[in-house]
Amino acid sequence: MALQKYLIPFFIIIINIISFNYSFPENPLENFVDEASGTGYDSQAYPSYLRMIGDGNDIFEDLIKQSRDDVSSLKIFDQAAVSTVNVSDFGAEGDGETDDTEAFEKAWMVACSSDTAAVLVVPQKIYWLKPIRFSGPCESQLTVQILGTLEASDDRSDFSKDGGHWLIFDSVRNLLVDGGGAINGNGKQWWQNSCKIDQSKPCRDAPTALTFYKCKDLIVKNLKIQDAQQIHVSFQKCKNVQASNLSITAPEKSPNTDGIHVTNTQNIHHNLCYSHRDDCISIVSGSENVQASNITCGPGHGISIGSLGAGNSEAIVSEVTVNGAKLMGTTNGVRIKTWQGGSGSASNITFENIEMHNVPTPIIIDQNYCDRKKHCKNRSAVQVENVVYKNIKGTSASDVALKFDCSKSFPCLGIVLQDIKLERQGGKTAKALCNNIDFTIIGVVSPILYS
Ligand SMILES: *[C@@H]1O[C@H](CO)[C@@H](O)[C@H](O)[C@H]1NC(C)=O
Ligand SMILES: *[C@@H]1O[C@H](CO)[C@@H](O)[C@H](O)[C@H]1NC(C)=O
Ligand SMILES: *[C@@H]1O[C@H](CO)[C@@H](O)[C@H](O)[C@H]1NC(C)=O
Ligand SMILES: *[C@@H]1O[C@H](CO)[C@@H](O)[C@H](O)[C@H]1NC(C)=O
Ligand SMILES: *[C@@H]1O[C@H](CO)[C@@H](O)[C@H](O)[C@H]1NC(C)=O
Repeated sequence: MALQKYLIPFFIIIINIISFNYSFPENPLENFVDEASGTGYDSQAYPSYLRMIGDGNDIFEDLIKQSRDDVSSLKIFDQAAVSTVNVSDFGAEGDGETDDTEAFEKAWMVACSSDTAAVLVVPQKIYWLKPIRFSGPCESQLTVQILGTLEASDDRSDFSKDGGHWLIFDSVRNLLVDGGGAINGNGKQWWQNSCKIDQSKPCRDAPTALTFYKCKDLIVKNLKIQDAQQIHVSFQKCKNVQASNLSITAPEKSPNTDGIHVTNTQNIHHNLCYSHRDDCISIVSGSENVQASNITCGPGHGISIGSLGAGNSEAIVSEVTVNGAKLMGTTNGVRIKTWQGGSGSASNITFENIEMHNVPTPIIIDQNYCDRKKHCKNRSAVQVENVVYKNIKGTSASDVALKFDCSKSFPCLGIVLQDIKLERQGGKTAKALCNNIDFTIIGVVSPILYS
């Protein structure tokens, strides 16, 4: 197919995200934070912070396990009591041309109101779809089994009602989406009309291909998501999410096609004109308790927290762990980026067990992000605090492997570097740049940091 030829995969992610906002009667995280509070930052507090991270991980593991058990109960339902709802039975043609939107909407209504567990089956065909909102709450556990391909309408006027989303699951509990099929945002029309590609065009956000909004106890796995109009997959205000084995691809030149976006905010502030490059995973304001593991990205983009604090806004991101990632030839490595003039904080963040190959500036904190000169005077900044970089190895494509460009008025606090070995690609020594950071070194860290 011509389309196939046109596709140059620019990143592939195999990811496990566990994002949990605990809702247990006795909130263990609160207890844990309470116990840990009073450990305000000072140089003495370091060991305890580290210990806490260790302890925290155990707690996290228990919670992950618990949330996994919760969600895996999804699969343990009585087969006999499962009702199968097949989109074909609601008139979906699956010929890749006929508008199958209405059939999907009807099938969803039936599956969602089933009083026994239901499986909504999408057979192995190509379904052409306008934007659809799959709204909950539903009566029972629901599986959406995508065997075929969901393909977005490329008529942008079909998106006039809600320009922000193509497929959205809204307020659904106990939902499993899998099946090995594909979700194709068919984003070419959107990319061509992006101000990043054609400067005569106005800067507007394009739809997110797949959004989970206010979903609880959610598993998303074994899907290919490709050619999103903009962001591929977004989790917003969700609780207890497991996302795994998602392969995400789009052409290299598609603008702003982030892989996975995690946010607790209702609106993604993703300004096309001034946005950073597209990310493999981006974690933005309002995200708490996010764990991402087993991520493979590249070539293309890296793992980003932020940009935070755009337009003098307040941003909060905390308790983020990225454990186990391989970044190959991405345009950035692990990055925390905040706008000048913002406020709030990005804290308690761990990047560990990460391998980088040929990545320009593998580790970066940029607190002075600013595109337009007139906005670059504001001294306010999003506070970056308690960030641990542990066991990060590989090569840098530029001379600067570590770059901490922190704000004068809000220096980066509690930065821990442990067992870092980053060389200049080709074997030369790389450099570290530090502005306004307070750091601790554990083990061997290369390149060397000078304060
Ligand atoms: C970060 O961890 C510290 C313990 O070191 C805790 O006191 C603080 O509340 C945490 N911050 C956030 C925003 O969760
Ligand atoms: C769905 O319905 C179509 C058409 O009747 C059928 O060919 C297909 O096997 C059905 N799929 C499932 C999983 O029941
Ligand atoms: C991952 O998903 C693909 C379909 O996208 C499937 O073919 C493959 O078997 C899955 N891998 C695992 C380990 O489940
Ligand atoms: C990461 O992947 C490895 C092997 O592919 C697997 O054994 C391990 O359980 C995965 N870790 C997580 C947290 O999913
Ligand atoms: C600077 O940032 C602060 C905090 O975000 C904001 O309240 C203030 O209005 C900004 N000042 C200017 C001149 O933009």
